[in-house]
Amino acid sequence: MELRETIRRRQAKVGIIGLGYVGLPLAVEFALHGFDVTGFDVDAWKVSEINAGRSYIGDVTTADVAKSVDAGRLRATVDMSMLHEMDAIDICVPTPLRKTRDPDLSYVVQAVDAVKARLRSGQLVILESTTYPGTTEEVVRPALEEQGLKAGIDFFLAFSPERVDPGNTKYSTKTIPKVVGGVNGESTELASALYESIIDTVVPVSSTQVAEMVKLLENTFRAVNIGLVNEIALMSHRMNIDVWEVIDAASTKPFGFMPFYPGPGLGGHCIPIDPFYLSWKARQSGFEARFIELAGHVNGSMPAYVVERIGEALNTRKRAINGSRIHLLGVAYKKDVSDVRESPALDIAELLERRGAVVSYSDPYVPRLQHGRLDLRSIDESTVNGVDCAVICTNHGAFDYNAIPRRYPLVVDTRNALKGIPADNVFRL
Ligand SMILES: NC(=O)c1ccc[n+]([C@@H]2O[C@H](COP(=O)([O-])OP(=O)(O)OC[C@H]3O[C@@H](n4cnc5c(N)ncnc54)[C@H](O)[C@@H]3O)[C@@H](O)[C@H]2O)c1
Repeated sequence: MELRETIRRRQAKVGIIGLGYVGLPLAVEFALHGFDVTGFDVDAWKVSEINAGRSYIGDVTTADVAKSVDAGRLRATVDMSMLHEMDAIDICVPTPLRKTRDPDLSYVVQAVDAVKARLRSGQLVILESTTYPGTTEEVVRPALEEQGLKAGIDFFLAFSPERVDPGNTKYSTKTIPKVVGGVNGESTELASALYESIIDTVVPVSSTQVAEMVKLLENTFRAVNIGLVNEIALMSHRMNIDVWEVIDAASTKPFGFMPFYPGPGLGGHCIPIDPFYLSWKARQSGFEARFIELAGHVNGSMPAYVVERIGEALNTRKRAINGSRIHLLGVAYKKDVSDVRESPALDIAELLERRGAVVSYSDPYVPRLQHGRLDLRSIDESTVNGVDCAVICTNHGAFDYNAIPRRYPLVVDTRNALKGIPADNVFRL
């Protein structure tokens, strides 16, 4: 049967490579819509959790995984040879940066190699990992064509950026519009048809490069605006102006303004990283992406600024960072998630530790924190005592904000979490 018809009848076998924050929600969504889904991962623990019907990703319920597995619609494996049986393959593997801030495509290359070895006529391959414009055409396509099959003719190839927002209860995989760009019209149509089976709105674009650039524009937009508002926060502090009040008032403008909020720095697997994929690619064309570099500079300086504020707070009690007990409230990169990748709290903890502080933390989502020389366990917040200064790094809903200024001698609040709570021992950004 033709792939289009197989998709229409929801009989297409869907393979998802990489069962992380992006791949698992997608796999479950396909399974809940009646597709036969196989998840491929190199992590044997994740594979066994899925097969046991358990979720390890906050946004995916164990009930949905169990339901899909029990119905025989979802299974996971480390055995890449099963890729041959798939009609459509979605690649959702990590795209980190190297230490030099150059793109690290090694996971994508590894996944593409696994597909290449089993590629057959009629298959649809879609890359979802965030990457620089040109990756699908310049890296994925030539690799897959090495066996003699031609993209757009013998098999179909597209790029579709993932826009999932972990912890966001308003928008999910199903309700976030999906942008799709194929290497030719038929690839775009088939990939769109596949996503239309599970996602409310699909947005086809003219090429893989446009689809790749869309994602980088979205994330660069955030990185630059966060950089701007962080700079406004730094200058407001110098001018003795409450930046949070300014943002709230500016947000009353019904058009032409969108609020962004300052904080301890960027975190997560996307905003601190993706813009550098774009600036790297731009550099290859002799173009310097100045906004990206500048925003990276401002955002990257925020953890050191937070430490400066901690020093100022302790100074009011004639204390130094060296020897003080400093307790971080929240270490995840944003509220109500367990993800600590690139979290600014890691940098803050490290900077404090290097200055001689005794660092501890509470985070209901992160039981253990390992970073550099630090290996800490979360302390139940209600039992913390004897610390010199608390630092709100993440505004998790679980914290009792009304009690915090009373429970700690000094508080540095990087998230305006204590807004409206009167206290004279609180230092804001
Ligand atoms: N996390 C987000 O909020 C988010 C949002 C949008 C886009 N993205 C992008 O999606 C991609 C995936 O991100 P993520 O957060 O899901 O990463 P993740 O680390 O949570 O998951 C990736 C998974 O891929 C697996 N993996 C690595 N190499 C593999 C291979 N060769 N074969 C099979 N499995 C392999 C890992 O074991 C892991 O389970 C990245 O490009 C990221 O930038 C992430």
